[in-house]
Amino acid sequence: NVLILDFGSQYTQLIARRVRELNIFCEIFPYNHFPTDLSPYKAVILGGSPYSVRSEDALQIDLSNIRGKLPLLAVCYGAQYLAHFSGGEVAASNIREYGRANLSYIKEEVFFENVNVNSQVWMSHSDTIKHLPTNGVKLASTKDVENAAYKIDGETTYAIQFHPEVYHSTDGKQILENFLVKIAHVPQNFTPNAFVEDCVKELQEKVKGDKVVLGLSGGVDSTVAAVLLHKAIGKNLYCIFVNNGLLRKNEFENVLHQYKDMGLNVKGVDATARFMTALDGLEDPEAKRKAIGNAFIEVFDEEAHLIEDVTWLAQGTIYPDVIESVSVKGPSATIKSHHNVGGLPDYMKLKIVEPLRMLFKDEVRRVGKTLGIDPELLGRHPFPGPGLSIRILGAITPEKVRILQEVDAVFINGLKEHGLYDKVWQAGAILLPVNSVGVMGDERTYEKVVALRAVESTDGMTADWVHLPYEFLMKISNEIINKVKGVNRVVYDISSKPPATIEWE
Ligand code: XMP
Repeated sequence: NVLILDFGSQYTQLIARRVRELNIFCEIFPYNHFPTDLSPYKAVILGGSPYSVRSEDALQIDLSNIRGKLPLLAVCYGAQYLAHFSGGEVAASNIREYGRANLSYIKEEVFFENVNVNSQVWMSHSDTIKHLPTNGVKLASTKDVENAAYKIDGETTYAIQFHPEVYHSTDGKQILENFLVKIAHVPQNFTPNAFVEDCVKELQEKVKGDKVVLGLSGGVDSTVAAVLLHKAIGKNLYCIFVNNGLLRKNEFENVLHQYKDMGLNVKGVDATARFMTALDGLEDPEAKRKAIGNAFIEVFDEEAHLIEDVTWLAQGTIYPDVIESVSVKGPSATIKSHHNVGGLPDYMKLKIVEPLRMLFKDEVRRVGKTLGIDPELLGRHPFPGPGLSIRILGAITPEKVRILQEVDAVFINGLKEHGLYDKVWQAGAILLPVNSVGVMGDERTYEKVVALRAVESTDGMTADWVHLPYEFLMKISNEIINKVKGVNRVVYDISSKPPATIEWE
């Protein structure tokens, strides 16, 4: 088990992901709020930070229980921190050291085993380490950065100025492996199989003979959480799948069917009318999200009350949500309030169980595969909790939902038929609140415009639009206009995130 201390860098989660790729379990904690009992940990990594160690509000950490006691790797801010407060010197650098660089010198060391001189690394800092800390030994340099890596003589303390966790650092994973496996001897035993075994055991001990209720959404997280719980407690798991009327075409029926085939004890609740009433006349995106969130809670609450003596609520929370909620800067600024299945009020008085709270999304998929869940279900694109409502700009009507469901079905089926679905991280269509003039036969039309969106991403935090083949776009556009009554124009969204977002609302 590895402890990663977060100083607020956007890259900290990436460090954890790279460590997990080595089948090593790790946890992220804020630099100022981590467990006092360090006995479960075999190594510590200090992450980067947007702050400067030279500024007055530099984030300070007491390393006395860590340094010299556990193998320590300090990355970027961490490396500067060690230098600045342990006898070295950090200064503003003359040039902004940002982007790709190449190592020009590497000391022969286990730390750099299987790493080539010339290896590309990713720099992102504006301070530079002028003088190494006491007992520091230089391990690597680049053309512009003399002290790109160092160690402390007599300790298993290592520091690197560049970011090994970023893909642009070609040998970054190798360096992490050298440090964690060869130097710190951390076992590589965190595999999907081991996770399932441990998790089922823990769930059985925690929940015992109690009843658990879980809201299924058709998505990967809630499905994997349900199957894990089902494996652990069988019929004591009660699943509820709510149709909010904003799912994809035929999705409610299809997915419900799939769940039943998987042996899950699931009740499908069609609450379409209720959601439509709640949304009636609402145009503001946040108001729509709130209305859907509240309607969901009401429906779920009523259904849960029908289950006698239920005491637990299971949620498909995953690790990024957990990290976010304890992050150094506090939950990051709300750009859009996300509604996820399961955000239930306290008055339900249910105890919470979150079997996936330590997993990243890709790990959830791998666990799902180990559990034998249909690859098609596991490979489904993410779909927002409020469903099509945030892809219908402005007020929602049943007719608009119908139009968008048809458009979406043509697009998604087209992607599948052309072998493009798995190459895309998320795709969907947006119904715009404008009509445009068209001509069909001899008739002038004045109908809706839809935008198609397909993005590549790893976690939805950043995304690029996918360069779908023109031929494909042409075919889909024709098919939509010919088949879907009410649409006479199709456009393709070519904006990346940032500065755009994936959804339009
Ligand atoms: P944005 O639009 O913020 O979306 O770039 C990032 C990812 O989050 C999904 N998304 C949501 N998911 N409730 C959800 O459960 C929401 O309100 C919501 N809004 C956006 C979006 O589909 C993308 O995967």
